Amino acid sequence: MYRVAVMASGSGSNLQAILDRLHHQVAGVEVALVVSDVPGALALERAERADIPTAVFPVHPHVTREERDRAIADAITAASADLIVLAGYMRMLTPPLLERFPWRVINLHPALLPAFPGTDGIRDALEYGVKVTGVTVHFVDEGMDTGPIIRQESLTVGEGEGRVSLGERIHALEHRVLPRVVELFATGKVQPPERGSRLVRVDDSEPSRIDW
Ligand code: GRF
Repeated sequence: MYRVAVMASGSGSNLQAILDRLHHQVAGVEVALVVSDVPGALALERAERADIPTAVFPVHPHVTREERDRAIADAITAASADLIVLAGYMRMLTPPLLERFPWRVINLHPALLPAFPGTDGIRDALEYGVKVTGVTVHFVDEGMDTGPIIRQESLTVGEGEGRVSLGERIHALEHRVLPRVVELFATGKVQPPERGSRLVRVDDSEPSRIDW
């Protein structure tokens, strides 16, 4: 089994896409744990509905970010996760977590990085007036959406298109791109960059086994 831990703060529609398209279906992928910082997040309900263990680490005034991340890393280690997928996890990660899982933490971002990093890439791209935007999956480092890029897919912004419509189209694209990237990891097709480089090699030559 290729064990995946998903971290999510919100609705978890991307977690759902992984559950619907990969979990126990393709490439031996199993979602082994769902982690959230938000008690009651819809993502946790989705996990519980699918009988997947959950762990919640709310922010606490007397606990540092590093201490929280160490506790999260312990939970992920206990779940024997091979890959950690941030799917709408709204906090930056610190070294005590990242150093435990080198090249094993990835994030999904709703814009074409390095353009429009941050918490609302869809709005920022729209307000800037771009004609093409898209989604990015990248390795996570200590920066804000700065790690090496694994995969990007684009879409054309419609003339006069608004936030709601663009948001729906971006999410639909995410729901295809993220499961595909997890499949590529599970089948050993992603090679992290060599020292001093940002170039991630992805062998996308075999068709996906996901039933879209
Ligand atoms: C996605 O748009 C993702 O790109 C961003 O947060 C959103 C999460 O959506 N990082 P959901 O919770 O999976 O529905």
